[in-house]
Amino acid sequence: EHRAVQDDSTEQDGSGQSKLRSAQWFGTRDKNGFMYRSWMKNQGIPSHHFEGRPVIGICNTWSELTPCNAHFRQLAERVKDGIREAGGVPVEFPVFSNGESNLRPTAMLTRNLAAMDTEEAIRGNPIDGVVLLVGCDKTTPALLMGAASCDLPTMVVTGGPMLNGKHRGEDVGSGTLVWRMHEEYKAGKITLEEFLDAEAGMSRSAGTCNTMGTASTMACMAESLGTSLPHNAAIPAVDSRRYVLAHMSGMRIVDMVHEDLRLSKVLTREAFINAIRTNAAIGGSTNAVIHLKAIAGRIGVELSLDDWSHGRDVPTLVDLQPSGRFLMEDFYYAGGLPAVLRRLGEQGLLHRGALTVNGATLWDNVQASPCHNDEVIRTPDNPLVSNGGICVLRGNLAPRGAVLKPSAASPHLMKHRGRAVVFESFDDYKQRITDPELDIDETCVMVLKNCGPKGYPGMAEVGNMGLPAKVLKKGITDMVRISDARMSGTAFGTVVLHVAPEAMELGPLAAVHEGDMIELDAEAGRLHLDISEAELAARLEKLRGEHIIARTGGYLELYRDHVLQADEGCDFDFLVGCRGAAVPAHSH
Ligand code: FES
Ligand code: MG
Repeated sequence: EHRAVQDDSTEQDGSGQSKLRSAQWFGTRDKNGFMYRSWMKNQGIPSHHFEGRPVIGICNTWSELTPCNAHFRQLAERVKDGIREAGGVPVEFPVFSNGESNLRPTAMLTRNLAAMDTEEAIRGNPIDGVVLLVGCDKTTPALLMGAASCDLPTMVVTGGPMLNGKHRGEDVGSGTLVWRMHEEYKAGKITLEEFLDAEAGMSRSAGTCNTMGTASTMACMAESLGTSLPHNAAIPAVDSRRYVLAHMSGMRIVDMVHEDLRLSKVLTREAFINAIRTNAAIGGSTNAVIHLKAIAGRIGVELSLDDWSHGRDVPTLVDLQPSGRFLMEDFYYAGGLPAVLRRLGEQGLLHRGALTVNGATLWDNVQASPCHNDEVIRTPDNPLVSNGGICVLRGNLAPRGAVLKPSAASPHLMKHRGRAVVFESFDDYKQRITDPELDIDETCVMVLKNCGPKGYPGMAEVGNMGLPAKVLKKGITDMVRISDARMSGTAFGTVVLHVAPEAMELGPLAAVHEGDMIELDAEAGRLHLDISEAELAARLEKLRGEHIIARTGGYLELYRDHVLQADEGCDFDFLVGCRGAAVPAHSH
């Protein structure tokens, strides 16, 4: 029965290559091999599947509480078809699934938990390569982080975006519609019934947000990093071509194992610079700043906040909401990310030689990719925004940096000086923003504290705090807002985010008083609190005396004790780095 099984699991096979990692479980004719195989056979797996075939883990974030990933069991079946066709053995396993829409206080709180789960599941199990089934915002960075800390051959398969939302005959975008209609409701332009009536039409098929929100952004990041097959980012979830891509990805991962094409060969510094430039070209989410840093940290690539300057001169070509007009379905039909990457490459804005999971370079993959619609994917001489890359801001208010997304901001507010209206917490904001007596107008700068990684906790997407009704009623739709929070990738506005250090860490943000003057100059990368150094120091000294972070126990306490600040990617300090996938000791 055990034709090809050898006794010595460290022996080389006939081709001179090392034996498969999984052979250290299944490849020995002894008590341990018996045990590893026997229990697996309760699933009806025939003996010959344990005899030298690559075992491919399918790391699945399926969950009905992550509605964006709820179709993943069908997707996993297509990946398995491909793996089997190529001679591999698929083994699907679940990891913590953090859905953006349901999980409180924010899915970001559990990104690192999902990454830990993924890392330990990969390393501890008999797998030679892994397919990451990801979709909703945090699932993509979490699984890439965990996989990067193991560095096996790794392939990303994304679930794909929802079809265009439809409401009263119009195309409507996930999230972006909610932000806009809620402001219209607060301004008295639509009724509550009209607002609520849009729910079902906005989300009318399986898939992730159909705007260029964080999920679509991270799908584009995965593709531009080279960790997925071309077109993975944009094919709609329910388009049959998504299933073909899943099948082809399953076939390819088996070859990647034979070629020993590990994640570290793909995730190079050049790949991250390509991703930063791609983020500018797609008008991508500010959340990518945090997630790319965290992934880079896991694989051991140097990447700093200042590296986002590589994206500053890059034009935003993709005219998708929230920055522009269209949605992901339109983006795929227009040519998808390969068409964007081709245009970037033709402008000299790509590291063309970056290796991708299909064994070809990024440029090989995209150099002949057509664009079918120059409105959706603009030409470089007719961009949506000419300098679309995320701005990094520094100054006495953000010594370790803050970010702003120009493509979602108002040009007239990119340079602004205004009086601070300060909210000590998100609850404070919610209580006072509806007060008609609140001393605020459109020239003010709204400041929100204690919404950072430790403050909220989890750094919720509350930075794009809604404007006061009395300002909205004047027809004003944007004001400068500053916080240590994040913002949904589907949101818009002149919103300064990720201020580091955060207020809870007694960054200078904590010391802003009502009525202080604040200066923003996005182009110059400056964020300044107009008080003297001595005054700032005195205020922070006073706060230090009153500072306590409550002990909560549980995961929350682990999180607060170990989470890094936004400029460092909000990973846990003890999780940074690649620990490899050496096979652990036997379990029995
Ligand atoms: Fe899941 Fe937007 S809420 S992708
Ligand atoms: Mg989001």
